[in-house]
Amino acid sequence: MLNENAFVIGNTTGSGYDTHIGFLKEIFNKINLFPLKEDFFNHIEKSLSSLVYTETTLLVIFVEYPLLSDISLFLKKNFNSLNYILITYYYSNLDSMGSFDNVFEFINTGAFDRSFFLSKLSNEILNKKKIVSLNYEVKEFYEIGKSLSSQRDTVKLLDMIISSSMNLTSSDAGTIYLVIDKENFNWTSVNNNNYENKVLKFVISKNMSLNTDLETFISPITRQSIFGYSVITGETIRIDDAYNLSPNLDYKHNSSFDLHTGYITRSILSIPMKDHENNILGVIQLINKKKSKAEKIDYTIKESMDSIIPFDSADELIMNSLAGQAAVVLENQLLYREMKELLDSYKKQNSELEILSRKILKAHEEERKRIARDIHDGPAQAVVNLSLKIELAKKFLQNSMFEKGIAEMDSLNSAIKATTKEIRTILYDLKPSYLETGLIAALDNRFKIYEESTGTKIAFNVQGDDSSIEYYLASTLYRMVQESLSNIYKHAKAKSIIVDFSVDENRIYVVVTDDGVGFDMEEQRKKTHTLKGGFGLGGLRERAELVKGKVDIKSAPDKGTSISICIPL
Ligand SMILES: Nc1ncnc2c1ncn2[C@@H]1O[C@H](COP(=O)(O)OP(=O)(O)OP(=O)(O)O)[C@@H](O)[C@H]1O
Ligand SMILES: [Mg+2]
Repeated sequence: MLNENAFVIGNTTGSGYDTHIGFLKEIFNKINLFPLKEDFFNHIEKSLSSLVYTETTLLVIFVEYPLLSDISLFLKKNFNSLNYILITYYYSNLDSMGSFDNVFEFINTGAFDRSFFLSKLSNEILNKKKIVSLNYEVKEFYEIGKSLSSQRDTVKLLDMIISSSMNLTSSDAGTIYLVIDKENFNWTSVNNNNYENKVLKFVISKNMSLNTDLETFISPITRQSIFGYSVITGETIRIDDAYNLSPNLDYKHNSSFDLHTGYITRSILSIPMKDHENNILGVIQLINKKKSKAEKIDYTIKESMDSIIPFDSADELIMNSLAGQAAVVLENQLLYREMKELLDSYKKQNSELEILSRKILKAHEEERKRIARDIHDGPAQAVVNLSLKIELAKKFLQNSMFEKGIAEMDSLNSAIKATTKEIRTILYDLKPSYLETGLIAALDNRFKIYEESTGTKIAFNVQGDDSSIEYYLASTLYRMVQESLSNIYKHAKAKSIIVDFSVDENRIYVVVTDDGVGFDMEEQRKKTHTLKGGFGLGGLRERAELVKGKVDIKSAPDKGTSISICIPL
């Protein structure tokens, strides 16, 4: 018995037609008789408008020969040739056939081999159905490929993969596992059995008959689980009944989900997502293939399990292609992510560099300001003072107060010497060559000049050697120590100063300690809030930051001050 509806158009009685109709009634579930071709056209038009005939409908149409021409044209105009089988009949031999290329068979109702015809027709029905479904699958597959490769959102992509897989294979449920790194939980893949430090992460699951929201979980890659076996061997596994597995197999069905939810797993298709280089990115696992795609299964009713059938080799074939495509798309996305991260970090680095170069420019500007101020406060003022002293000495001499005059000249002389020293110090600090002998020697020299001009002792304790210190670090450090010293000179009234200097392969560490008046750090902090910039203590911090170093300042009134500077090498 054939499941299709038969349509018979034309004379159905007399002239030997009765037996023919009787035969059709025997082989078809239902036959629709239309004595006039107009009735058939009306019926089809009505049905088309109410969308009864979908792409997968197959019409089997018997037409009395005199009506063939019109019907043939009508079918050609309205249908794809995959959607109908056209047979023409007449009670005697059909001499003049014309060219009807869409006619499947010509029957002489008076004499034809019924069983031969029946088997030929059944074959044709089966073939057309196969082609139609293959056609559908190819179209679907093409669409999936297109949407997969344009999807950038990973969650949506995984959802798309699992939904398409279930749709193409009429599966009731499906799950995707991805291979991830055990240590950092990053996406990765398995190749050549290198699965030791990797695990499988359950990332998405869909079930048409059951409303479940499963938590993601991680599972080791072992031959004992079906999906693990697929990842290790790269094989597709097809199981007809999960509860009837041969005991000789490595893997077993894990029934905990079924026990938990009342679901019953029967047929399984487990496909590794393998790219062209045999990297396995994960597994698609499909559960319970159904006779009809859209059907929901009530697992509490025993008979409903009859709707579940085994996956076949066509499912395996199409799923292998889909899984391969999915693997490539996932891999591309992985690359895309890595590239984006790289680009972001590059952008970040770039903007950090920009900030750094702005800071360096600012530091240079501050340095220039400091030198101008040093000259203004020191030598420039001293010269004004010198000219006053000359005026005074001149007055004494004019008034014949020679002793006072000479005393003033003596004081003038020592003032000139002091100013000369001050100018030398400024020049020394300005000379780029001062570091040529190395940081330690430069500092030592600087301390000697300081001692000479101020009379304050500096104990300089050195550990390690400075040969590995690069110029830009040495000059930064030199300027920082110089500012610390100048602060002591200006504010501390110290009797002695200790400078501890040590260097190892990782860092330079310098501590400048004085026993002077110290200061209230809290108060100072409040002041610097309103008075930003300046070389000073704030400048020390900024300079240290430029070379990824740190400054720690400790001070209290009457407790002296200690500045610790640490710079990584
Ligand atoms: N070694 C020190 N002993 C005592 N007080 C200090 C010492 N170093 C800094 N100070 C106090 O902290 C204040 C801030 O120091 P900072 O170096 O920031 O500014 P400044 O020396 O006053 O001005 P600039 O350094 O810009 O010429 C000083 O005015 C001073 O009161
Ligand atoms: Mg200062």
